[in-house]
Formats: sequence, structure tokens, C-alpha cells
Amino acid sequence: MCPERAGTRNRIARGQPEGALRERSPLVSCRGLIKTYVQGAIEVPALRGVDLDLARGDFATLAGPSGSGKTTLLNMIGGLDRPSAGDVVLDGRNLATLGKAELAELRLHRIGFVFQSYNLIPVLSALENVEFILRLQGIAPRERRQRALEALADVGLEGLEGRRPAHLSGGQQQRVAVARALVGRPAIVLADEPTANLDTRNAEELIELMAALNARLGTTFLMGTHDARVIARAQRHIELTDGRISSDETRPAG
Ligand SMILES: Nc1ncnc2c1ncn2[C@@H]1O[C@H](COP(=O)(O)OP(=O)(O)OP(=O)(O)O)[C@@H](O)[C@H]1O
Ligand SMILES: [Mg+2]
Repeated sequence: MCPERAGTRNRIARGQPEGALRERSPLVSCRGLIKTYVQGAIEVPALRGVDLDLARGDFATLAGPSGSGKTTLLNMIGGLDRPSAGDVVLDGRNLATLGKAELAELRLHRIGFVFQSYNLIPVLSALENVEFILRLQGIAPRERRQRALEALADVGLEGLEGRRPAHLSGGQQQRVAVARALVGRPAIVLADEPTANLDTRNAEELIELMAALNARLGTTFLMGTHDARVIARAQRHIELTDGRISSDETRPAG
């Protein structure tokens, strides 16, 4: 028997199988995912059977024509909405088995979200926006402040912590959103069109920043995008067509 297998068996024998096995399984596993929106008498098929695994540390883009199901798939993986059929397993937990409160808890601790329109709280400063997640996580004030300051420094916003969103540029606001998505140490960041509202320079800076954070922290990223610059930077590129995966390519490293 290979030593690795023997190691796994020993860990299981010692009664610590969960973490060890979890580390080896995909971070996200979607099987037979179907989502049909019902509007009165009309049924809109958005996902028509998606099978997708994301490995820990993936830096992946999700593209496809408007209406192909990108946002729908991100929402299913993020537990923001439920599939009509099929399963999403995230970090070893089948989302279908979780109640509303458990799903909210999982989102809070395991998933970071970045949206096209930043979605910052306008009356809070950059620092308070980032700290807010840690407050929800029940982190004590001192550590909260320290970690939020570090997260903002990580995205290059040192010195701007006290500004409210209205006094930051679009690029800076999206950096705050990235800091907020990462400060809670999630397993995955789901970003829906993160560069859509940014000009070329800010879009390029943002994607470089996310790539660097992925490399440094090992956080998995899945980004819905039309942006060729974002796609060019991804290590893995997935295309959706009419609610199905039509291509899935991983590029060699380097
Ligand atoms: N809440 C909803 N109610 C009804 N239909 C919906 C809803 N959300 C999405 N759809 C439909 O589901 C399909 C997939 O939409 P989705 O928003 O996932 O596409 P997308 O790939 O993100 O498109 P875009 O590039 O324009 O953002 C589309 O036909 C859309 O009209
Ligand atoms: Mg969309």
C-alpha cells in the first residue's frame, strides 16, 4: 500500500477522518444542477444540468453569452438561491441539507462575495465596511480592527480607511469589496462581473490584485465575467452556453 493511503487510513483509525478527507475532495462539487425560474405560467430554464468541480486554489473564470446562466450558477454555489434539482457540495457540505440559518452561517464563514456594483454600505467607512463581516462573525473588536486594517493594506488602500464609499473611486470601492470578501478568510470568493464598472486601468489592477491574493492566500476564486483581460489572467476558464458547460480548460502553470 502506498504510504499516503496508509496515512489516510491511520488518520481515520484515530478518528480524525473528516478534515483529512475534506482536504483531498474538491472544494465545490455541482452535480446535475438544474435551475428553472418560474414567472407565472412561464418557465425560464437557466441551468440545464451542470456538473462542475472546483479544486482548492482554483482561479477560474466563468464566461458565456448574456443569459447563459453565469449569475445563476454563482448564486447556486454561493447558497444565495436554491437549485430546482441537483446538488451543490461546498467544503464537504451538501447545501440542500442546510436550513436557512445554517446556509447563512456557511456563507458568512466560507464564502466571500464581490458584485459588479461593489455593494458597500454607504454610511460606513471603508474600514467599517470590511470590519462589518468580522463583527457578524463575532470577532472581538481589537482583532477585528487589526484584521480589517491588514485586509485594506493588502488591497493597497492604506491611508484611505476612514473614507466612505462616495469619497472613493470605483476602482477603490471594488478594492474595499475585495478586502471585505477576503477578511473573513473564506474558502472561496465568488465574483460576478467584478470589473464591469471599471475602466481599463482599474480593471487590470483589480484582476492582478485578485490573482496575487489567490497565489498568496490560496483562496479559490470563481469569477463570472465578459472581460477578456480577466479571462486571459485565469488559470482555468469555463464557458456556459444555454445553461450548460460548453467548455472547461485549465492552462498550464507559468
Ligand atoms: N430571477 C429571475 N427570474 C426569472 N428569470 C431569471 C431570473 N434570473 C435570471 N433569469 C433568467 O435565467 C437565465 C440566466 O440568467 P443569468 O442572469 O444567470 O445569466 P448571465 O449569464 O448571468 O447573464 P448576463 O451576462 O447578462 O449577466 C436568463 O434567461 C434570465 O433571463
Ligand atoms: Mg450575470
